[in-house]
Amino acid sequence: MNADTAIATHDFIGKEARYGARNYQPVPVVVDHARDCLVWDVEGREYIDMMGAYSAVSHGHLHPRVVAAAQRQLERVAVTSRAYHGTTLGPFLEKLCTLAGFERALPMNTGAEAVETAIKCARRWGYRVKGIPDGRAEILVARGNFHGRTSTIVGFSSEPAYRDGFGPFAPGFAHFDFGDMASVRAAASANTCAVLVEPIQGEAGVIVPPAGFFAELRQWCDRNNVLLIIDEVQSGLGRTGRWFAFEHEGIRPDGLVLGKALGGGLLPVSAFLADARVMDVFEPGSHGSTFGGNALAAAVALEALRVIEDENLVARSAALGGHLMRRLREAAEAGRPLVREVRGRGLWVGVDIDPSLASARELVERMAARGVLSKETHETVIRFAPPLTITRALIDRAADIFRDLLLDKRKSLAINAIASGAASGVQTCSEAGDRVNTQDSAPQLLMSPPDFFEVAYSINPWMNPEQWSLDAKRLTRDALAGWDTLRATYEALGARVLVKPAAKGWPDLVFTANCAVVLDGKAILARYLKSERAGEELHGQRMFAQLKARGEIDAVYRTPEGVYFEGAGDAIYDPLRRIVWMGYGQRSSRCAHHTVEQVFGIPTLSLELVDPHYYHLDTAFCLLQGGEILYHPAAFTEEGRGQIRALAGDLLIEAPAQDAAHLAVNSVCIGRDVVMCWCSDALRQQLEARGYRVHVVPLGSFNRSGGAAYCLTLKLNNLFKGRQREGEKLAA
Ligand SMILES: Cc1ncc(COP(=O)(O)O)c(C=O)c1O
Repeated sequence: MNADTAIATHDFIGKEARYGARNYQPVPVVVDHARDCLVWDVEGREYIDMMGAYSAVSHGHLHPRVVAAAQRQLERVAVTSRAYHGTTLGPFLEKLCTLAGFERALPMNTGAEAVETAIKCARRWGYRVKGIPDGRAEILVARGNFHGRTSTIVGFSSEPAYRDGFGPFAPGFAHFDFGDMASVRAAASANTCAVLVEPIQGEAGVIVPPAGFFAELRQWCDRNNVLLIIDEVQSGLGRTGRWFAFEHEGIRPDGLVLGKALGGGLLPVSAFLADARVMDVFEPGSHGSTFGGNALAAAVALEALRVIEDENLVARSAALGGHLMRRLREAAEAGRPLVREVRGRGLWVGVDIDPSLASARELVERMAARGVLSKETHETVIRFAPPLTITRALIDRAADIFRDLLLDKRKSLAINAIASGAASGVQTCSEAGDRVNTQDSAPQLLMSPPDFFEVAYSINPWMNPEQWSLDAKRLTRDALAGWDTLRATYEALGARVLVKPAAKGWPDLVFTANCAVVLDGKAILARYLKSERAGEELHGQRMFAQLKARGEIDAVYRTPEGVYFEGAGDAIYDPLRRIVWMGYGQRSSRCAHHTVEQVFGIPTLSLELVDPHYYHLDTAFCLLQGGEILYHPAAFTEEGRGQIRALAGDLLIEAPAQDAAHLAVNSVCIGRDVVMCWCSDALRQQLEARGYRVHVVPLGSFNRSGGAAYCLTLKLNNLFKGRQREGEKLAA
């Protein structure tokens, strides 16, 4: 730091203090500029942004696509008011409604305005549809809520500091305890028109509701003709590892409030969404905002939504959120007993500090001094909500700094002598997924013998039926021997193998990974792109009907017509990151991810496959037991490689070109054993260095079709325990 810049810091803070109202108490960092997840102050110091402007910067700072959309629109028109139509509002609303599953959206600017819109809508609905006597409508709100700062909204806050001296307040609100259905019932009356609630209470300290509360609340609202309105201003648009946090609860609200990230980190853009039966209580003149839905805001918000989709930011939040949670828990454990609880969902974590030992504010300021930006809420909780574009490496850096800070604080309090076995009181509650460990149970694998296997047609560039027929006998023998060895290897490693009978005329039935993908007992059947394989679909249906009859599978789903999807070959479940990695562009349609998300209730991360030699994701991407990703970079776009790297961090193993060409990546990992059809010395060394044992089973005959161990195997007992969205229509 030189004297000039230090003076600059002091000056900027001083001017804000001198001329600004005193309604904020910022962390003493003067931000000069920022890019993506990094921020620099006027003294040139670099910070990792672990706060993301309270979720408004989910896209990272100045996302190039969002900035470009703004610049394009700034060349045309920015604000006309809603007195006229425009070219950006319609497309933005269409995209928003389609993504969120509502019929109508009403655009506003700030979150508080969108909440006000929801309140007005709910009351009108109460009078006009439910028949509540005029002026008597009541809305139930949770204690500990935060919905913004207008006088109506703070009027129903339970936080004295937000209300003190601002009354008189609007009547018509009654309180219940967040997560407690008995208190919802007690607060309700015949005049209750709506429940307005956050799915996770952010400002209150990232409070996750008890399991089942929202499902019960949904049922109660239905029974009592009460609207359920969910405020996802902070939790929405990927923050929790789902597009919307209500998806974790398996419900669909009647109204949805969005804001913050909708503005792509550039502008205030918010919206209230509902179906026509609710929204159509507004007629022209009944509600509005000069800037709401302006052309510039709509262009930015449309691009912001597209970026979340194109860059797989929802899956990224789910995957990296798990990592952030683990790392913060480790830090909390190391810093015992400073931390009482670590909780959250996706890339949104609250760390609850024991106030008798430290204040959250003090730790936040010290963390900033070490280059990590976070923010306290309510004296005791430190909030971490980085941009969804964060990488695993940056999370590690920030978590290391936080851990060191806790250790130093502990030392300064002279409490480092606490026995490590003593009850620290550190509670961890968060993603259900951390409780599900699929790795321990023996894998159940479906295989189909190569009784009729041959290269009968050429749907891959290297397939050559003539070559096969020249040497058919030997190749068939080789296929049978390879398949038997593969099965025996799996069984020796503790797997249970179920055998699906082969069928004459369908040589590729052996590739069971393509016939379906299975998670939580639910199977989604393939729909093949190549007509040569289309007949296999019927066998798949029969086979899975039998598996269901035998209790091996609970439910079977069909991929919608017009969508191609080649099963587990293009949908690889990642139990560590709690997402499904999906491949598209060769055999499966990009939109197949909708089916996977709906049926399994799991976020997906779609990767475009650009090389016909790697025509299924499993030919270039393999997950190992410890979360390592074995992959072949050339199969993916630069953007895809970037996404894989960002999520894998140091758990990335690059398959040499020679191994990838021999389909070594198409392997199966059981515990610390990796079953492969080929392995170079270089790759073997890498795997062994990470504690894996390599078993090579030559599968040359199958390689001729472009398949190897993974293709020949479908895992039936993957477990995730997601929830599908209520009301989704699926062909079961
Ligand atoms: C859940 C929730 N609702 C509403 C708001 C208000 O949004 P704004 O500050 O844009 O008015 C916030 C802001 O933090 C929020 O977290």
